[in-house]
Amino acid sequence: MAVGRILVVDDSSMMRRALRTILEPLNVDVYEAVDGQMGLEMAFENKFDLIVTDVNMPNMDGVELCQRLKRQPSTRGIPVVMVSSFDSETDIEKGFQVGAAAYISKKEAQTYLFETIAKIMSKSTLHSRQTILVVDDSRTIRKIVEEGLAQSGFQVATAINGKEALNIIKYTKPDLILSDIDMPVMNGFEFCNAVHSSADLASIPFVVMSSNNDRAHMKRMLQYGAEAYIIKPFNTDQLVILVEKLLSDQFLLLLKEKERLDSEQSLMIASITSLVSALEARDSYTRGHSESVATIVSGMATLMGANHEEVDRLTIGGKLHDIGKIGVRDSVLLKPGALTDEEFSQIKVHPVVGAKILESIPSLTDIVSIVLCHHERLDGKGYPNGLKSKDIPQPARMTAVADTYNALTSDRPYRKGMPQEKALEIVKDAKGTQLCPDCVELFFKWIASSKS
Ligand SMILES: [Fe+2]
Repeated sequence: MAVGRILVVDDSSMMRRALRTILEPLNVDVYEAVDGQMGLEMAFENKFDLIVTDVNMPNMDGVELCQRLKRQPSTRGIPVVMVSSFDSETDIEKGFQVGAAAYISKKEAQTYLFETIAKIMSKSTLHSRQTILVVDDSRTIRKIVEEGLAQSGFQVATAINGKEALNIIKYTKPDLILSDIDMPVMNGFEFCNAVHSSADLASIPFVVMSSNNDRAHMKRMLQYGAEAYIIKPFNTDQLVILVEKLLSDQFLLLLKEKERLDSEQSLMIASITSLVSALEARDSYTRGHSESVATIVSGMATLMGANHEEVDRLTIGGKLHDIGKIGVRDSVLLKPGALTDEEFSQIKVHPVVGAKILESIPSLTDIVSIVLCHHERLDGKGYPNGLKSKDIPQPARMTAVADTYNALTSDRPYRKGMPQEKALEIVKDAKGTQLCPDCVELFFKWIASSKS
């Protein structure tokens, strides 16, 4: 599937063909216009991610096309790349002045065009997902800044003072705030302070826009937590560079934080899993049971087309489903013979104990239902809650099939593990009474695929 739409505007059909060939590896849909006028009409009617245009064309040249695109709010954000045989300093300067994102000489198109466009497209996709909140009581400043940022593809929200900005933030959390200091109703100090006192908002980069004679004020704003300032009058290119830099720093910080949390989480899951393994290892009959259940469930999940994250969560569920057995006395858990009713009722508490253990770990709350419901039965005769049919969460129904099969094929102190054929028959017979029919079907698909 194409990942974007590019419009190529050139009066030479040979050049349009050449550009199409250069753009092919980007996996984008390429549209063609023969001059600026046609290009402009197509841009107003369709949504393009980028426009590549020649400069010298009949009817409307590339410079005018770019100018007119940048004048309209609906097309202002589309990056324009000019490819021209006019490549003097003045031509290039003129191109940038009307808002081109890049200017490439036709001679160099073969070498640089692909790379330039790939870079611009990835940047503009990122920008289009980022919202900048501009807060200034001056209508002119708001308009200039909004236009400059929108031209670079950012989403922009505006407010006339801190109070209005805080209202907007309630509904749309911006990725960055640009704020004036001196404003009526709520000034920049109060606004910056309010943003930084809220745990939810404090990490949003805050940039102060102020005039030269506010230097002392600006320093005070930095003490309030603002990340940077920019002095009015500024040109919008400077502003965009500053915004991009702050957002990329912020992005790296968030990425690092996510990596840290992910690694903490895997460490924690590894410790709990080794606890389960240690528990099972005390009894040669249950050794490796949870790992096997995890392997079967993850195989089933992959077959049903679950994504990587879903397969991962089901694997964790499989590994931890019996964690609650930690709460069952050894004399019962390791008893070699058949269990009495009283002993069996002690075993039956393990899903509840397991769920209680995992409930306290925020990153594992989605695993709780697997642990709690893996002994529920479709006919309502399971435990601990006697849930029926679809009231039993699907991941728990899948885990129940894998658990049943692995328990049947494993040796027990009071009986040898069943041969696979017999265990498969029992699983098939339990379809619709004990086990979910769809999950059993899926399990049999997994068995078939693991044999092939
Ligand atoms: Fe269990």
